[in-house]
Amino acid sequence: MKVLVTGGDGQLGTELCRRLEAVGHAAIAFTQKDADFTQADLLRASIAAQRADWVINCAAHTQVDKAESEPELAFAINRDGARAVAEAVASYGGRLLHLSTDFIFDGTQSHPYRETDAPHPLGVYGQSKWEGEQAVCAVLPDALIVRTAWVHGAHGHNFVKTMLRLAAERDELNVVDDQIGTPSWTGDIAAALITLMEQNAQGCYHFTNEGVASWYDFAVAIIDEARALGFPIKVQRVNPIPSSAYPTPARRPAYSVLDKTKIRAALGRPIPHWRESLVTMLRELQP
Ligand SMILES: NC(=O)c1ccc[n+]([C@@H]2O[C@H](COP(=O)([O-])OP(=O)(O)OC[C@H]3O[C@@H](n4cnc5c(N)ncnc54)[C@H](OP(=O)(O)O)[C@@H]3O)[C@@H](O)[C@H]2O)c1
Repeated sequence: MKVLVTGGDGQLGTELCRRLEAVGHAAIAFTQKDADFTQADLLRASIAAQRADWVINCAAHTQVDKAESEPELAFAINRDGARAVAEAVASYGGRLLHLSTDFIFDGTQSHPYRETDAPHPLGVYGQSKWEGEQAVCAVLPDALIVRTAWVHGAHGHNFVKTMLRLAAERDELNVVDDQIGTPSWTGDIAAALITLMEQNAQGCYHFTNEGVASWYDFAVAIIDEARALGFPIKVQRVNPIPSSAYPTPARRPAYSVLDKTKIRAALGRPIPHWRESLVTMLRELQP
């Protein structure tokens, strides 16, 4: 199939294009240079011109804290840009897979969020992504929406790379331990997206790796696994701290574990535990 990937140079988009090509699909990586999401008319025209069988929308304003001070830009990209992509796909009868996020939930639940649970975003990023989902579904009721969380991969910026850098520079690190979620590797997310696409799926699915962790748990695992793999690690102590000791412009959900019952059944194969996939990701970065 011909598959156009927006955000084609982002964390997920890069991995997705690589894997699509590896399994015999023709991937077209669209970057901001090919189609700026703030230019809706040009975006629609350039996507429609490709007439791809599927468009996978990985482009997004993903800087959660920055979004609080530039809400117009976040909504232009995450809501209006997503709508324009859907309109382009609808114009020629293609299919759309749109990426969304655990940040559409407020994190007040104490059991994993299902696809049917009511969204209640805490900040601009989450609100703009939730409105983006609604805009996509209003244009394309058969759109496939996949919500994921805590994304890391070999390409782009993420928590794993930040921890590796800080652990090589500092003796001690403080990491919040009262936000719980699931680290998710781009390789596993991309594989799941491709399976759903090949099944011609529609509707909403949650996908993350298996297991749960706090950012503190994740940081300790990154450092332990990286040390075992021979990364330069200087840090001696990782201290758990509450979010209140690390104020950020955006509020984050305290609990954003996603329920994977629906996608487990669709995939028909086990989803790797986050720690196993962390090691796979670190091996890709191994010095
Ligand atoms: N990162 C996470 O932890 C996380 C968690 C849950 C869900 N998600 C969702 O998963 C998807 C992929 O995330 P990711 O981590 O791969 O994001 P990412 O690495 O930040 O990549 C975002 C992509 O969007 C592009 N983009 C930004 N502004 C644009 C604009 N005005 N016009 C066109 N393209 C623009 C970026 O291009 P430039 O490089 O040129 O800026 C980049 O290619 C997104 O929908 C995100 O909301 C991410």
